[in-house]
Amino acid sequence: MADEKKMPPMGPNGAPPQGGPGMPPNGMGGPEAQSKYSRGKYANTGRGGGRGGRGGGRGGPRVNEKPKDGKTTFFRLMRYVTHDKLKLAIVFFLVVFASVSSVGATYVTRPMVNTLSTLREHPENIRKILLLLGLMAGVHIANTAATYIQGRIMARIALNGSNKLRSELFDKMQSLPISYFDAHPHGELMSRFTNDADSVQMCLEQSFRSLISSALTLISVVSMMVMLGRWPLLLVTAGTLAVTTLVVRQRGKKSQFYFRAEHATLGELNGNIQEMIEGLKVVKAFTHEEAAVAEFNELNEAYFQAAHMGNYYGMSIMPFTANINNIGYAVTAMVGGILTVFGRMDVGALVTYMNYSRQVAMPVNQVSQQMNMIYSALAGAERIFQMIDLEPEVDEGKVTMVNAEELEDGTYVETDHRTGKWAWKVPMSDDRFAMVPVKGLVKVDHIDFSYVPEKKILKGVDVYAKPGQKIALVGSTGAGKTTIANLINRFYEIDSGSITYDGIDVRDIKKDSLRSATAVVLQDTHLFEGTVMENIRYGRLDATDEECIEAAKLANAHSFVRRLPDGYNTMVTNDGANLSQGERQLLAIARATVAEPPVLVLDEATSSIDTRTERLIEKGLDTLMEGRTVFVIAHRLSTVRNSNCIVVIEHGEIQEKGDHNELLDLKGRYYMLYTGQIILD
Ligand SMILES: Nc1ncnc2c1ncn2[C@@H]1O[C@H](COP(=O)(O)OP(=O)(O)OP(=O)(O)O)[C@@H](O)[C@H]1O
Ligand SMILES: [Mg+2]
Repeated sequence: MADEKKMPPMGPNGAPPQGGPGMPPNGMGGPEAQSKYSRGKYANTGRGGGRGGRGGGRGGPRVNEKPKDGKTTFFRLMRYVTHDKLKLAIVFFLVVFASVSSVGATYVTRPMVNTLSTLREHPENIRKILLLLGLMAGVHIANTAATYIQGRIMARIALNGSNKLRSELFDKMQSLPISYFDAHPHGELMSRFTNDADSVQMCLEQSFRSLISSALTLISVVSMMVMLGRWPLLLVTAGTLAVTTLVVRQRGKKSQFYFRAEHATLGELNGNIQEMIEGLKVVKAFTHEEAAVAEFNELNEAYFQAAHMGNYYGMSIMPFTANINNIGYAVTAMVGGILTVFGRMDVGALVTYMNYSRQVAMPVNQVSQQMNMIYSALAGAERIFQMIDLEPEVDEGKVTMVNAEELEDGTYVETDHRTGKWAWKVPMSDDRFAMVPVKGLVKVDHIDFSYVPEKKILKGVDVYAKPGQKIALVGSTGAGKTTIANLINRFYEIDSGSITYDGIDVRDIKKDSLRSATAVVLQDTHLFEGTVMENIRYGRLDATDEECIEAAKLANAHSFVRRLPDGYNTMVTNDGANLSQGERQLLAIARATVAEPPVLVLDEATSSIDTRTERLIEKGLDTLMEGRTVFVIAHRLSTVRNSNCIVVIEHGEIQEKGDHNELLDLKGRYYMLYTGQIILD
């Protein structure tokens, strides 16, 4: 994740960089980019699947969605900044002060010019002029101070707001069911934390302040002009303003289009870079470097084109408006001159009016620029709120698992220290609790399950594990073995049937407790950035160093860890890229071991480990597993031979069940697998 910071420089043409410091707009790919580059393995909700094959739809730049319900999103977003009312009030006051005072300061020109013209007859008026000059300087200094202070305060408020938004988003992410992550590209989710949250922050920080200030400036400048000017002058100004607005709108629309395209293409570019870095070995192994470079160049070119066009239109606004303004200025001077000559206006008023006519187009320009940001921020906020509003994983469980002590009469009582014994604390109707010893009796009873409604994965599966038994699940690739493991842990909800722990339905057990009761070594190991020791301790955060080392010994990881440059303090980087696949698995087993769970699930946990080491681990685990229930999923049948029960699953159905000898006697599928008459997969 930290690597994104090193991604290419971003920040579109002078326009406010949407990506925030060092972050690309559209971060690691917004929805657009991710739909192509990191579409979820099981994206099946009709989202994100939009684009066809590679390169499809790259004809023209695609454009970010606009916020669908901008108003609601806007007001909801405001709630993140309005809690500190005092600070906001100060900002508002300062913005008003800054806008109005700068318009007011310009007005001082009028008495000054008028006094100047009387200087010859009344030299003593120089004092008045000096006074006015001083006043003007004072107002400008105060104005600068006000702008600086409101900027600082607002930056802080915006940062607080976006931080709150991010942490709400993160909290929600932790509470979402796994199925959500199956269906959504991870890059897209990430872009909510980076790109979307950043654009919201930028917008909170700048846009609203700037909008208020622009509106006030426009109103006060126009009122001053109306006060000072005569109708012919006002007509000239109105005409100039109308033309400026038209140009700004027309050019602005175009630049906005390309500006968004720039974000989208940049997202694609980042997605490509990310994919290529991760898949570098595969690219090289299949000698696709040239194709990779070509694809990169194509994306880079698309980005360049979009950025170039965005720049072109964005940059062309200023010269256009400046010229229109100059023409307007000249016409104003001419018309104003005539009016002054005919005594309809004093010279001071004319000079002041002309100054205002210079200022009046500014707010129009500013608003058009800010609208880009606001649209982008609202669209970002909408995506963030969408996720915040998702239903969290259901957890209506009331039963918890607690440390317990066994009394002489065999009953269990709760205790606050670790005893190595556990009890299910089951709430009764009368505010009391029943203590049920945790034994590790797991019963999977006739379950049906499907990840997506139309495709049934498990059909009427029954698996029964008595405490301390080792149950093996074998079967071909895609048979549904990992799925059963996922269900024991309640990562997904079953469609029908039941799963019970010591007679208690898993749906009644609080998920935290259920998952503490079951340690899983997943098929695809994941290690975190940190030391080897920290990675092992992840299994149980209060484990001491000695306990972690003991676990490593049981998992047979100790000998390789000792040989690492810093032993247990060696840093694991990049999901364990500096370790071998088997070493990663050993650490994952150590992690599960240190948790000392009543139930252990090993999903292909030793698939990358040599048979000798595997046997050593098995010995270690046998010690650990006394009195615990273990589910082992393995392709290597030698690993499962000593299991109490071997369950053969094919296409989500149980075909055979029994111990090694029974199954051999049966002369069915297991027999054929074992004797090599059929090969798994
Ligand atoms: N998250 C998911 N969403 C939708 N379908 C899934 C998901 N995970 C697995 N499947 C499908 O469920 C079926 C069973 O998958 P499972 O991972 O349980 O197989 P397995 O027996 O563990 O295979 P392997 O030996 O390759 O690990 C497969 O057809 C797979 O395509
Ligand atoms: Mg599997």
